[in-house]
Amino acid sequence: MNKKRIAILASGAGSNAEAIMAWAQSSTLAEVVCVGSNVKSALVIERAKFFEVPTIIHLKKKNENNRDYDLRLCEKLKAYSPDWIVLAGYMKLLSPEFLKRFQGRVINIHPSLLPAFPGLDGYGDAYKANVVESGCTIHFVDEGMDTGPIIAQRKFLLIKGESFEDFKKRGLLIENQFYPEVLEKLLKDYL
Ligand code: GRF
Repeated sequence: MNKKRIAILASGAGSNAEAIMAWAQSSTLAEVVCVGSNVKSALVIERAKFFEVPTIIHLKKKNENNRDYDLRLCEKLKAYSPDWIVLAGYMKLLSPEFLKRFQGRVINIHPSLLPAFPGLDGYGDAYKANVVESGCTIHFVDEGMDTGPIIAQRKFLLIKGESFEDFKKRGLLIENQFYPEVLEKLLKDYL
């Protein structure tokens, strides 16, 4: 059976990307064929190199619109023939043109129990709102901000008196475990 080819897009530290690369190393279902980033100095690039996964650093040209930027990214991704695009802290909205190319095959992890707290700071917004429970959501990506159909969610309770840093750290660790688990299940369902 051919393994599904995953391209990860990430902009930051890349703990989720790392968890996915580590899982894929021993998976019979998937392989990570490349890691793309819109941030040259993102730590995720170093993590990809450690796993010997090819990297794409894709930077915006002066005055380039989102569509043209994404179409250039599609061209670069083409070389790796990805079946799935997995966003892991990719801090950019994807254009309709990009999503059309990979219809129904783009997924994301968001640090809140969507539809609560979409946007840039899921953990921060949940913490400020004094929620009793928080969590993360894995969803298909559509044109909106964190609005696509939900695939799976994992909840966790806030600990009384917990600092924001500890809360976020705990959330991220849960994400790192949850993302590969959900990918494994999703890819099985799509075989
Ligand atoms: C995670 O909290 C993820 O849910 C959000 O951005 C963060 C990325 O963290 N979309 P990392 O770069 O994977 O460590």
